Amino acid sequence: MTANQTILRELPADLKRDRLPRHVAVIMDGNGRWAKKQGLPRIMGHRRGVDALKDILRCCKDWGIGALTAYAFSTENWGRPLEEVDFLMTLFERVLRQELKEMMEENVQIQFVGNLDALPRSLQNEIRSSMEETRNNKGIQFRVATNYGGRQEILQACKTIATKVQQGLLQPEDIDESVFAHHLYTAGTCDPDLLIRTSGEMRISNFLLWQVAYAEIYVTDTLWPDFDRTEFHHALAAYQQRDRRFGKVNQ
Ligand code: IPE
Ligand code: IPE
Ligand code: MG
Repeated sequence: MTANQTILRELPADLKRDRLPRHVAVIMDGNGRWAKKQGLPRIMGHRRGVDALKDILRCCKDWGIGALTAYAFSTENWGRPLEEVDFLMTLFERVLRQELKEMMEENVQIQFVGNLDALPRSLQNEIRSSMEETRNNKGIQFRVATNYGGRQEILQACKTIATKVQQGLLQPEDIDESVFAHHLYTAGTCDPDLLIRTSGEMRISNFLLWQVAYAEIYVTDTLWPDFDRTEFHHALAAYQQRDRRFGKVNQ
């Protein structure tokens, strides 16, 4: 840990504890560009991206943020070269196995959101055991979006709801926002207050389409492997300057 990171173990003094986001979502973009800049293969960027994620997760815990959702692999990312997809799947599996002990010690509750059935069987097994083992941990809710697509998530919720209506378990007039949200992968987690995207891209890329309805969006040019506590501090400071009106008029 660098001296700077040691200093940042505590919530920086300029941030107001009572105005922290309850849930932060991150689109961890720019691993490939980071590697290219260093003259390394893309996969090295993904490896460094894991280190960045581990530090931001610990930072959320240190600073008192209750939930972090990280976009690790989208339904569109299957379109990448096979070697890169294979590398990512193996990386996820290895990291999960290596980090489980520390997640238990740090009281992290991990959950995966996405269509998990399409993932390699050995990764599914690792996912299942990590979710089971950490389910009662109360330190922080950590959500990893893997084979996740916002449209796919909404469609699967619609199908489940339609089946319940067909079976007479649910009446169409009872389908409200809360019932719908309950059928999404993210049921049980509050909507993100802050959505961070690294590497400068001004788009959502099919992430949490329903849940980010009123999230504050923060985009930084920093590439994900370089996104550290100082960068996270900047994002939170910017968030605390925002005037969240939710469609209303401030007096
Ligand atoms: C994000 O980094 C990680 C994943 C999508 C898995 P990228 O791999 O998209 O990096 P760039 O955008 O090509 O730089
Ligand atoms: C979004 O990044 C997905 C993840 C970070 C996992 P992408 O790199 O796949 O998004 P696009 O292609 O730039 O929209
Ligand atoms: Mg990208």
